[in-house]
Amino acid sequence: MCGIAAYTGKKNGNTVILNGLKKLEYRGYDSAGIAYLQNASINILKSVGKVENLKELALKDKVNSFCIIGHTRWATHGKPSQENSHPHTGNKSEIALVHNGIIENYLELKQRLAAKGHKFKSETDSEVAAHLIEEYLKKTKNFEAAFTSAVKHLKGAYAITAMYSKEPGVLMAAKKQSPLVLGIAEDEYFLASDVPAFLEYTRKVIFLEDGDIIKISPTGYKITNAQGGNIKRKISFINWDSASAQKGGYKHFMLKEIFDQPQAVEDTLRTLPLNIEKSFSITPARAKKIKGFYIIACGTAYHAALAAKYWIESIAKLPAEVETASEFRYRDVNFQKDWVLAAISQSGETADTLSALIKAKKAGVKVLSVCNVLGSTIARESDFTVYTHCGPEISVASTKAFTAQLTALYSLAINLAAARGALSKKEAASLYKELYRLPALMTQALKTREQIRKIAKKAYKKPSFIFLGRNTGYPLALEGALKLKEISYLHAEGFAGGEIKHGPIALIDAATPVITLMPAGKTYDKMLNSCREVEARGADLIMITNECLSNAIVLPKTGENLFPIIAAVPLQLFAYYIADLRGREIDRPRNLAKSVTVE
Ligand code: M6R
Repeated sequence: MCGIAAYTGKKNGNTVILNGLKKLEYRGYDSAGIAYLQNASINILKSVGKVENLKELALKDKVNSFCIIGHTRWATHGKPSQENSHPHTGNKSEIALVHNGIIENYLELKQRLAAKGHKFKSETDSEVAAHLIEEYLKKTKNFEAAFTSAVKHLKGAYAITAMYSKEPGVLMAAKKQSPLVLGIAEDEYFLASDVPAFLEYTRKVIFLEDGDIIKISPTGYKITNAQGGNIKRKISFINWDSASAQKGGYKHFMLKEIFDQPQAVEDTLRTLPLNIEKSFSITPARAKKIKGFYIIACGTAYHAALAAKYWIESIAKLPAEVETASEFRYRDVNFQKDWVLAAISQSGETADTLSALIKAKKAGVKVLSVCNVLGSTIARESDFTVYTHCGPEISVASTKAFTAQLTALYSLAINLAAARGALSKKEAASLYKELYRLPALMTQALKTREQIRKIAKKAYKKPSFIFLGRNTGYPLALEGALKLKEISYLHAEGFAGGEIKHGPIALIDAATPVITLMPAGKTYDKMLNSCREVEARGADLIMITNECLSNAIVLPKTGENLFPIIAAVPLQLFAYYIADLRGREIDRPRNLAKSVTVE
């Protein structure tokens, strides 16, 4: 996830773009850059770190241009650095371009372009698009035609905006699976990843759609499809204020991030083909040698690790031991030969996870990590890293990182099983097919929002909550309780369904709502029994299932394995609404930090 802001008009666009990028920093902040047109040539300024650094450069350079494109980056291909930050150019600086998304076929395109004499300066996937346009310009000599031809060759997700020095004032853009909005004002036009980037200049916008190719200049705009056919899109008027616009119109970042999940999961899935070497950098030969997994993490990531244990054991047929990193780092672990340590961390900087990882490395154990932040310490210290592609998670309570971690870990189990022969290629492909339905299933799960808000309204004054689940529903019960306690400051505990009669049932009374996680499958009847037991003690029951059950929150039907990823959605919404009704500071709960870099 990165942020794009672009301007063409009649005034100096410097302030427009730099303020716009600042508003988009929630989408990425590891580096930033602009390309601006001056005296018919393109100048580029880039800086590592926040937009503030870029502002200083622009001030020194006295940037004054009526046509500017800008970018704030969240690294996916290539570390955060001057070379990798956007805008990118072709061999000559006649084309400059900014990109948000992932160009899946960039290596193949890079090879073809290199053979034609293109020299690449960065490690990014984005740079190939600039060279590709340059290549087509040799033939067409026309920016719009060259841009349209180049876009047809890109696979993956993109929002791209480009400028060409020989057609001053013209910006070309394209959108597929990454957001792009057009802002319309008098003799000036804006393109951005999100509305707040230009909200102070216009409220008249077009939300562009997949496949749209856009041309803007101070004299107007045009939207076409790849075949050149004209397209008409509805103009909308934005009436959000600036602060809520930054949250995409949502009241809190947490709610926005809950709703970002189908996209985050889709972006993560895109990089996980059914091939262990491509997706996890583990050769099939090495996969066959692995004898087991230690999985370590903290907080929400630990709950993702717990779910992974079930998948690795049942699908890949390998033993897996899961432990909080803070315990693992001080325990006398008798490391076993050919076991791999998997470290799960959104930030990639959590001190306990890092220490546990270093301890394993020192013992000669190979380390695989699942991280969201490219180039983070945990990623750098690992032998293999797979990235979740959520973009920055702003809210302290982790939501989209959790479901993206689960997606990556489930994919790891399938990939491992296929490489080791625990699943046939056909069986693995069929599990993958279901996994690819996940973004659509999560979108469906988000439709429970209103039902959950009503349930929360009835429950928010209760002092204590119990979450129950079995099998992969158990880690989810722990996660539901953690989410609720961290943002509502209420007492909440998660238990394995079978454990309640060994003690926790003593807590249950009419003042203690019980949330049960009940996927269709082998534990469903057992969970129904637990429901009867707690109901008999007067508790209000909130059942989350994918079976046809009245008085329950019913999620789309899937196999048991996908249930925890989908059922995370209503749990997150439940915690959110309870906390909101109690007036809590949801995005920054008391005493908590987003990244725990101290012990
Ligand atoms: O960045 P990490 O995934 O390593 O962070 C681990 C925990 O600190 C984190 O998940 C924490 O529990 C969240 N606040 C949960 O919402």
